[in-house]
Amino acid sequence: MMGLLMCLGCVLLDFMMVHSHVLMQGRIVGGHTAAPNSIKYIVSLQSTKGQHFCGGSLVHRYWVLTAAHCNIGAEHMMIVAGDYIVNTFEGTEQYAKPHRVVTHPLYNRSTNNADIMLIKLRAPMVLNKYVSLAPLPRQGTGVVEGLVCRVSGWGYNNLGGGQAPFTLRTVTVPIVSTARCNSSMSFNGNITANMICAGYRTGGKDACKGDSGGPLVCGGRVYGVVSWGNGCGDAKFPGVYTAVSKFRRWIDQTIYRSYLRCTKY
Ligand SMILES: *[C@@H]1O[C@H](CO)[C@@H](O)[C@H](O)[C@H]1NC(C)=O
Ligand SMILES: *[C@@H]1O[C@H](CO)[C@@H](O)[C@H](O)[C@H]1NC(C)=O
Ligand SMILES: *[C@@H]1O[C@H](CO)[C@@H](O)[C@H](O)[C@H]1NC(C)=O
Repeated sequence: MMGLLMCLGCVLLDFMMVHSHVLMQGRIVGGHTAAPNSIKYIVSLQSTKGQHFCGGSLVHRYWVLTAAHCNIGAEHMMIVAGDYIVNTFEGTEQYAKPHRVVTHPLYNRSTNNADIMLIKLRAPMVLNKYVSLAPLPRQGTGVVEGLVCRVSGWGYNNLGGGQAPFTLRTVTVPIVSTARCNSSMSFNGNITANMICAGYRTGGKDACKGDSGGPLVCGGRVYGVVSWGNGCGDAKFPGVYTAVSKFRRWIDQTIYRSYLRCTKY
């Protein structure tokens, strides 16, 4: 009985943490460097050798939201929060190893559908001046065409690679309607209901390789996870993001379930 009560207590506390986020304002092609530690929920996914390869968002002290295609195996990853210039120690970083990764059961690597993943950390991140939780949209809430959102990351500046900039970069992009994004003029039927598109008709501003898994923030909430595209900043092809609001229930259930079982993973 005592155990059950304690279990419920931890469930409620941790569940509430998911909902009581502080509202934050929030690779980017055509963008600029972000102000230091201005996007406090963004995390860098790094190899155990310290090489940045994807972005993510801290959604709970123990959980990171990212893209399923960023899964290189829990044992090969290190999560870094509170970072600004990757590969440079600034004293604000917190490091945590994943305990396990949960990719969405519907994730399909050939269609990129349901490109979403949660990473449970071995130790919780400490929330402070440099690290906070990302506010998420409610289940099923949409974003209207033209709404200007912000995508941030440490990825490449342009396609064709080159050197990844070490400082966090950010750019604003407007939401593109699914109809236009899925049309024969663009992705020609490859856009599912679990995706949202964002970019300018003129191109030039976009997320790119290395930004994968990072947040697309609209009205202070993480509506998108950087997923895929066709080139970067191409006028014909906007960036494609996993629609987080389609997975809010799955996110909450995955986090909640791990505490409900009251077991240590
Ligand atoms: C992925 O999607 C393709 C195209 O719809 C389908 O043929 C394939 O079976 C799917 N793969 C998985 C693992 O679901
Ligand atoms: C759409 O997907 C098909 C099959 O995966 C692919 O051959 C085609 O190039 C894609 N088209 C665009 C515009 O992305
Ligand atoms: C995109 O187009 C394809 C092919 O016409 C269609 O099957 C799919 O449902 C469309 N996606 C959305 C989100 O409407």
